[in-house]
Amino acid sequence: MTIRPATAADREFLADMLVEAVNWSPEWPAKSRREVLSMPSTAHYLAGWPRETDLGVVAESGGEPTGAAWLRFFPPGEPGYGFVAADVPELTIGVAAPWRGHGVGRALLRAIEACAQEAGIARISLSVERKNFARQLYLAAGYEVTGAGSAQSDTMVKFL
Ligand SMILES: CC(C)(COP(=O)(O)OP(=O)(O)OC[C@H]1O[C@@H](n2cnc3c(N)ncnc32)[C@H](O)[C@@H]1OP(=O)(O)O)[C@@H](O)C(=O)NCCC(=O)NCCS
Repeated sequence: MTIRPATAADREFLADMLVEAVNWSPEWPAKSRREVLSMPSTAHYLAGWPRETDLGVVAESGGEPTGAAWLRFFPPGEPGYGFVAADVPELTIGVAAPWRGHGVGRALLRAIEACAQEAGIARISLSVERKNFARQLYLAAGYEVTGAGSAQSDTMVKFL
């Protein structure tokens, strides 16, 4: 597995991973790709990719993308689910289904944190449903719950 910076050419793959992140629970009816990319609450994680301040990484195996993680800043008037402040970018992460459980997510998390540190970013935030095992991955990686994002989700922050 290799991890490289995400570019404009990765937009479609990042969209695939955003759809995976939105539809993480098999218990809920899946949202279509079109819905995810048009509903403002989810579309703004990727709209206009790449913005000047976006940071992203893509994992590849045998030349095929297997997962991606990226950070985007949101203004207070248009917050993401895990918004804490305008100078704290929010994480989106997804691994293609066949590749899950093989360490790709953990490696992506490390890589995007390294990119953020290099860019002088002090904190990363995210939103995660409490039932999602990804929450354990974030806790193990040093993210702390800062508040309840909703009845089912937590907002988490990591100081880099
Ligand atoms: C969440 C996600 C990004 C994690 O990536 P991954 O490559 O599957 O995770 P890793 O293999 O790096 O494993 C990370 C940790 O989660 C654990 N884990 C992996 N799959 C698991 C599963 N199905 N159930 C419970 N724990 C699991 C691993 O054991 C590991 O912890 P450990 O090493 O301490 O045991 C990926 O599964 C995914 O894309 N899921 C769907 C989209 C999603 O939920 N995105 C996040 C929204 S907040």
